[in-house]
Amino acid sequence: MATIAIYSLKGGVGKTTLAVNLAWCAASLSARRTLLWDLDAQGAASWMLHAGPARQPASALFQKDVDPAKLVQPTAVARLDLIAADASLRDLDRQFHELDRKKRLRKLVESAARDHDRVILDCPPGLGDTADQAIRSADLIVVPVIPSPLSARAYAAVTDHVGARRPILPVFVMVDRRRALHRAALTAHPAWPVIPMASAVEQMADRRAPIGTYARASPAATAFADLWRHIEQRLAG
Ligand SMILES: Nc1ncnc2c1ncn2[C@@H]1O[C@H](COP(=O)(O)OP(=O)(O)OP(=O)(O)O)[C@@H](O)[C@H]1O
Ligand SMILES: [Mg+2]
Repeated sequence: MATIAIYSLKGGVGKTTLAVNLAWCAASLSARRTLLWDLDAQGAASWMLHAGPARQPASALFQKDVDPAKLVQPTAVARLDLIAADASLRDLDRQFHELDRKKRLRKLVESAARDHDRVILDCPPGLGDTADQAIRSADLIVVPVIPSPLSARAYAAVTDHVGARRPILPVFVMVDRRRALHRAALTAHPAWPVIPMASAVEQMADRRAPIGTYARASPAATAFADLWRHIEQRLAG
């Protein structure tokens, strides 16, 4: 089993979009038994994957002695399961802080994903205790970076924060090659994977489905698939 955290200190940079599509790639293209764990109180990934009503609030996992496997639900995608988020995760940073057990999430992931090969964590933005727990849980940290000076600063803050603890894979997202700034950023980091800006990606919120289910041959879907293959190689290497 391998855990991949999709993380950035910045909000609105494409974490959830990456998480949902990479989870779809893992389940559909690599036939991995995949668990997407939505750790963001906004619950965007849960909504996108049509999460059903939960038997317990999502925060019960962090507060009570609940078997995390009980919160795992199937999705419409074969081999893709979900632990959904809800508003009870609003103050997850504080909940983790008060727990004062640095490997709590890691232990929960291990027991939730007993029957899974790949776990994808959709993290909320920030550098707080939730981020720390996700970093400690992950074998690889995928960081979406919009090619802009501000995102580059945020990426530097992430690498500082993670340090040598875990491998990090930066990914350029929402790339528009017509923009000089974007082209310059790509030239500065030629090895970073690239996900283009695409209306097919924006449509995910409308269709409530991973892009691979409705625009599989699109350049954006192909870019997510290439990124997933790259991640599998990193995990194997
Ligand atoms: N490659 C892309 N092309 C076009 N739009 C994109 C792309 N990636 C993300 N978006 C759009 O950008 C917005 C933010 O994306 P997303 O919700 O994935 O970010 P996030 O980092 O998870 O945000 P938050 O910090 O609020 O959780 C969404 O409207 C999404 O549709
Ligand atoms: Mg998100």
